[in-house]
Amino acid sequence: MINNQRNKVFVGAMMALLVIVSVAAISPNTPPKNLKVLPKDISHDSLEYLMKFYNVSLKVKCGYCHVKGSKESDANPLKDVTRKMIVMTDEMNSKYLKTITHQPNDTTALQLVTCNTCHRGEAKPKVPAITISKEEHKEHKEGKEEHKD
Ligand code: HEC
Ligand code: HEC
Repeated sequence: MINNQRNKVFVGAMMALLVIVSVAAISPNTPPKNLKVLPKDISHDSLEYLMKFYNVSLKVKCGYCHVKGSKESDANPLKDVTRKMIVMTDEMNSKYLKTITHQPNDTTALQLVTCNTCHRGEAKPKVPAITISKEEHKEHKEGKEEHKD
């Protein structure tokens, strides 16, 4: 009984600690020093949200791209790879996707590309190879496909 009570207190204390640790993933008192592609005046909350979004999209932890204890350091080359990815994703949206219009009968919201569009929980996205059978290839050549009508 006493043990149970103690365990509860202990678990409660651990949970409080976890909350504090996750809230303090990025200190609000230290503004970013080395942003090269994200807006320099990005809010603390947006920066934290983005970083967590990268974690989840690639299924990695912060340390996959950052050296421990110094988030501004560029010693990990994956930070520069990620900068290219950020610019690439942004350009796909601003140059292409945002300029398309849906058909009048298509009322779905315009989809934009995110890291997760490609990564889906993998640091290096794997796309299964597709094979086109001989029959499919032949049908295509003979113009028997749906685009014929
Ligand atoms: C997929 C790689 C990647 C992951 C994962 C990632 N980051 Fe980042 N982070 C970056 C890149 C790239 C920048 C710099 C962006 C720029 O140059 O505009 C950055 C910048 C930052 C900065 C600003 C540093 C400064 O002073 O300039 C902080 C703080 C930060 N990240 C914290 C985190 C935290 C906390 C996590 C985990 C929740 C995390 N990051 C996960 C790639 C990543
Ligand atoms: C259009 C698809 C696409 C989008 C969008 C995309 N990526 Fe990638 N990313 C890739 C591919 C493909 C690779 C693997 C390239 C290679 O090394 O062969 C990759 C590689 C990476 C790597 C290197 C992983 C490693 O271990 O070498 C990081 C980090 C990364 N992407 C982060 C991001 C982040 C963060 C975003 C969103 C800002 C993003 N990517 C958006 C397709 C994409």
